[in-house]
Amino acid sequence: MPIPIILDCDPGTDDALALFLALASPELDVRAVTVAGGNVGLALTLANALALVAMTGVHVPVYAGADRPILGQFQSETRVHGNDGLGGVRLPNGGTATPGLAADAIRTILREAPEPITLVGIAPATNLALALMTEPELARNVARIVVMSGAWGEGNATPAAEFNAWSDPEALAVLIASGCPLVFATLELTAQALATPADLVGWRASGDGRCLRAACAIQGSVPLSRRLGGTGAPLHDPCAIAWLVRPDLFTSRPAAVTMDLGPGPGRGRTVIDRWGRTTAPANATVLEGLNRAGFLALMQDRLNRLP
Ligand code: RIB
Ligand code: CA
Repeated sequence: MPIPIILDCDPGTDDALALFLALASPELDVRAVTVAGGNVGLALTLANALALVAMTGVHVPVYAGADRPILGQFQSETRVHGNDGLGGVRLPNGGTATPGLAADAIRTILREAPEPITLVGIAPATNLALALMTEPELARNVARIVVMSGAWGEGNATPAAEFNAWSDPEALAVLIASGCPLVFATLELTAQALATPADLVGWRASGDGRCLRAACAIQGSVPLSRRLGGTGAPLHDPCAIAWLVRPDLFTSRPAAVTMDLGPGPGRGRTVIDRWGRTTAPANATVLEGLNRAGFLALMQDRLNRLP
């Protein structure tokens, strides 16, 4: 049976490829796409999500959500995603959002679903947190929460923090405190999901669908990562989707994860105890290894299933 999911995103170049992967994968039943401000402001992330979903031809409601974190100020990341969030790649307009707020839609779906729903967070976790904070008992209707978030080592937004965790640390702390089964795809995992220019050439040569072409153009707009040696750009967000579709491509371990919510330079850091150095019980599954070739092949296969 397909896994029912709600996908919360902030498109965002890697979000775009994650949306395509999710909507092209029969292993998943995407009940809703919810959108937050993150890589760029909400007006742009929402328009991008609508355009991307429309390109796939899949009918799924898209809801607007939070345009700022629970605490603090909204801060975008246009250096990676461009001012429009998709690296300047122009897509046909995707229409209008489904009426209603993301957090309310998440709660309604959780409340009414006959089976537990998987929440996938590839953005600052504000929408997911607001849903669970305002109706905590809905946690029992959550099968698991899979997030692209955090790092056990250096961050990418600051030396200490990964962008999604750093953008709304309190929201991620709410997810951790919810008691829902949590799966983390951290920067160390996504560093293995490196797409090189040659990989994109191979994808592009494999087909000619509009979504494949858009994905190659969007990913091709992302600067090569200096942090990862300047040979490619990591496909962060698709990792969270790929784990649901092909968990055999990953290795993982249980670990205790806590948040640094302080005002200092460590704010937004995910403190991940991979070696059991504290007495804190494991509260998450942390993805560690990725079969890169299998992941890239999965991406190519699914992009070619889209129009
Ligand atoms: O750190 C990577 C994460 O931050 C990804 O979700 C990317 O889209 C940005 O939102
Ligand atoms: Ca994202």
